[in-house]
Amino acid sequence: MIVSERDRSTQRIAQDIETLSGSAYTLSTDAIRRYAYTTAYRNTLDYFSRALDRLGFEVYEDPVGTLVARNVPRGEPAFGIGSHCDSNRNGGRYDGTLGVATALEVCRLNEERGLGLPLQLISFLEEEGSGFGQMLLGSRIMVQRVTETELKHSFRAIDDGRSFWEHAEEAGYEPARWRDSVHALDALSGWIEMHIEQARLLQDTGNRIGIVTAIAGYVHADVVVRGRADHAGATPMAFRLDPGLVLAECILELERLARAAGGGTVATVGEIEVHPGLINAVPGHIRFSLDVRGIDETLFRGVADDIAAFAGESSRRRGMTVEIEERQTLPPTPLDERIVGALTTAAEESGEPFMLMHSGAAHDTMCVAGRVPSAMVFVPCKDGISHSPDEDADPADAALAAEIILNAIAALH
Ligand code: HGY
Ligand code: MN
Ligand code: MN
Repeated sequence: MIVSERDRSTQRIAQDIETLSGSAYTLSTDAIRRYAYTTAYRNTLDYFSRALDRLGFEVYEDPVGTLVARNVPRGEPAFGIGSHCDSNRNGGRYDGTLGVATALEVCRLNEERGLGLPLQLISFLEEEGSGFGQMLLGSRIMVQRVTETELKHSFRAIDDGRSFWEHAEEAGYEPARWRDSVHALDALSGWIEMHIEQARLLQDTGNRIGIVTAIAGYVHADVVVRGRADHAGATPMAFRLDPGLVLAECILELERLARAAGGGTVATVGEIEVHPGLINAVPGHIRFSLDVRGIDETLFRGVADDIAAFAGESSRRRGMTVEIEERQTLPPTPLDERIVGALTTAAEESGEPFMLMHSGAAHDTMCVAGRVPSAMVFVPCKDGISHSPDEDADPADAALAAEIILNAIAALH
């Protein structure tokens, strides 16, 4: 039986995903959980390194652990492809990893077709922020959107509170040379990242491919409300300084602000830490996170500013204090029209249904796009579910994406 090229790609990508879902590649049996400087993550990098080495790629890691592999000598022009293979702490099999596996498949097809296109694959460290609470950390380091002080002191491991710098050194990297990471982008003529959509527009419209024209920007911040820890039974309601009430008001106000802003603006309180967090104690202080995003920076920045003002007013009205600290922010990112055009032509030639769209999720491409002409390709994920072990996608869609990406790169070469 003749196996088509696309079927062979489907099988290889499916096999990569199946293998990387095994126990050696995750810290949890309940979800895919892998992040910087853990054995599970090391095993995942080694898996991709071996596959790229077999294709004759030179494979190396930058000073903090982003994986780079190229089939032409460093410094020579190449087209960049890749994504990330770390995961959310409650991650699925496909977020990021399917993008790296598809980039690997592009490298295989380039070889099998004898195209000889110069390619560079990148798998960025810590896209999810699962190790240090800092999303897109590897790509922000690469484009110098961090400071040495943050790497040495502010960015601390969720697991043990030690600095990123300490963990990177302990893992055998050279964080002191973090500024050299940028050189991985020096000779790139373009960049395409493939990723699952993480929403359900493609599924609901019957499209197999999404060509991304812009990526939503975001504000990440932490709010700490300080009241007074008290006995839950003996303290009359009128005497309390309960930060939980400020939190409750803020969550409802955040929803109202995001809906009122419209224009695709979204806002989430995803992390809540209650101290002391005991059933019979009125909380002393509460930390909660803010994740506010959108394609229109005026709108989402306005929501972030308004909820900060509201948290202050609510705290003061109730006799408490509030501290708000921005964790990081990235602007909305328009993608490169020429590369979007080449992907559109390749998608048309495939004869498969596709659409142009925005990305609500953040991606390393937001960092790369500031230095290299960039675009993204989405494939559907079942019911839009992501950042969940229930995440599901079809390797056949990834195989189609690999073909479209390769054909676009060939047309741009
Ligand atoms: O949260 C995000 O946008 C990305 O999936 N880390
Ligand atoms: Mn991702
Ligand atoms: Mn993610």
